[in-house]
Amino acid sequence: MRFLTLFALALLGAGCAAGTDATPTGVATPVDPAALGRQTFVSYCVPCHGASGEGFVNALDAPALNADGQSHLLSDAAILSAIIDGGAASGGKPPGGSMAPLGDALSAGQEAAVLQYVHTLWTDEQRAAHEAAGGHGEQ
Ligand code: HEC
Repeated sequence: MRFLTLFALALLGAGCAAGTDATPTGVATPVDPAALGRQTFVSYCVPCHGASGEGFVNALDAPALNADGQSHLLSDAAILSAIIDGGAASGGKPPGGSMAPLGDALSAGQEAAVLQYVHTLWTDEQRAAHEAAGGHGEQ
């Protein structure tokens, strides 16, 4: 009996091993943060900020997030606050805090990735200015 049980367990083990060796289809692969950031931007930001962050695409008049705008002058903390808590919590940035809070819709990974994606919309000079102003520090 004991021998049979061991035999059954060995079979089960073989089954599992075969499972892991199978093609990785459907298995979660590590997500590339750059791809996640772009995907998050397209799904959650483009409707108001435009496909390339050009802004002013609907009645909310969301400002440009690309090189034409001023978002590089904001700290990362302020940008994250806008993303998570919406316009009201970002200090009522003009034109008046009408950005939707997305904290409940996005994972922490998506928030970090989309923040990095916003950085890619700026020029090298703007990125440098952002860093120099302590973009990675506090507000
Ligand atoms: C429902 C429309 C809407 C969506 C969706 C939206 N925003 Fe906004 N966003 C706005 C508006 C309107 C403002 C203007 C400021 C405010 O509301 O306080 C703004 C302001 C901002 C600012 C401040 C810009 C500045 O120059 O002051 C940042 C940064 C920002 N949004 C990033 C994002 C990101 C990143 C996403 C996607 C994760 C996003 N927004 C999604 C409407 C939106």
